[in-house]
Amino acid sequence: MDNPSILEISIQNDGVALLVLNRPTARNALNLELRQALSDAFIQLQQNPAVRAIVITGGSQVFAAGADIKDFTTATTAQMYLRRTEQYWQSITDCSKPIIAAVNGYALGGGCELAMHADIIIASKSAQFGQPEVKLGLMPGAGGTQRLLRAVGKYKAMLLLLSGKFISAEHAYNMGLVSEVVEEEKTIGHALELAKTIAAYAPIAVQQIKEVAQLGSDMPLQAGLALERKAFQILFDTQDQKEGINAFFEKRPAQYTGE
Ligand code: CAA
Repeated sequence: MDNPSILEISIQNDGVALLVLNRPTARNALNLELRQALSDAFIQLQQNPAVRAIVITGGSQVFAAGADIKDFTTATTAQMYLRRTEQYWQSITDCSKPIIAAVNGYALGGGCELAMHADIIIASKSAQFGQPEVKLGLMPGAGGTQRLLRAVGKYKAMLLLLSGKFISAEHAYNMGLVSEVVEEEKTIGHALELAKTIAAYAPIAVQQIKEVAQLGSDMPLQAGLALERKAFQILFDTQDQKEGINAFFEKRPAQYTGE
């Protein structure tokens, strides 16, 4: 990594990788260095066959307070264009492995958008979510208008996008932005346990579920159902599918190899 101190990466022997954003003095704001580090990390983890699930967190205090506002002070349109920040986000979007966001504290603006790049969001009771860019004379630029809309529907999304207000984890859960709400001290541990469970499943099946759910959500129903059917059929050519079925009948835990 370019600067391991702003993004800590640890790979555990249960197939789970843990990424911890570490810019506490700026509330984990996503400056260009941190975005680059995140992008590099996701490329690395995608290529590492030992990694089967990824947990991303900002630690115990804050998930991320959004883009680093200092980067916006004097930026012109051309400079913003030339930054091509979409490339950093794309490495996360392209990750075929399951991603779990463990959110403590604020997930705002680009921080909320980062959480929405995950497949599952675990939030602590005191977490807060929001897209406050409108208060800065701006708007979301990393998927907030699109992913939030798809996650929670037009009227709840527009309330957050246009008011810039922060909402509690419970509120976010009720609107469908959060998968589970847990006690403060349990957020990261719970996300790691969940990741461990998923990492022990057959990786091709897990990744096919992710791919079909992601692609299918933007497809007409019949096309999505066909995609699902084909992916389901493809799994019958994996050793892990046979192992899963045999283990069930032999009443033992399955040992998946990823083949
Ligand atoms: N960028 C840069 N610095 C930030 C920051 C950010 N997004 N958020 C917080 N900081 C800095 C503050 O400037 C402050 O620095 P100093 O100590 O040097 O003054 C430090 O972090 C602590 O901040 P606060 O004193 O404000 O801490 P707090 O706990 O009282 O409040 C907060 C925390 C609610 C997150 C508040 O800092 C805040 O509202 N931050 C801005 C949130 C925001 O507007 N995010 C959207 C950014 S735009 C965006 O995200 C667009 C995009 O992705 C495309």
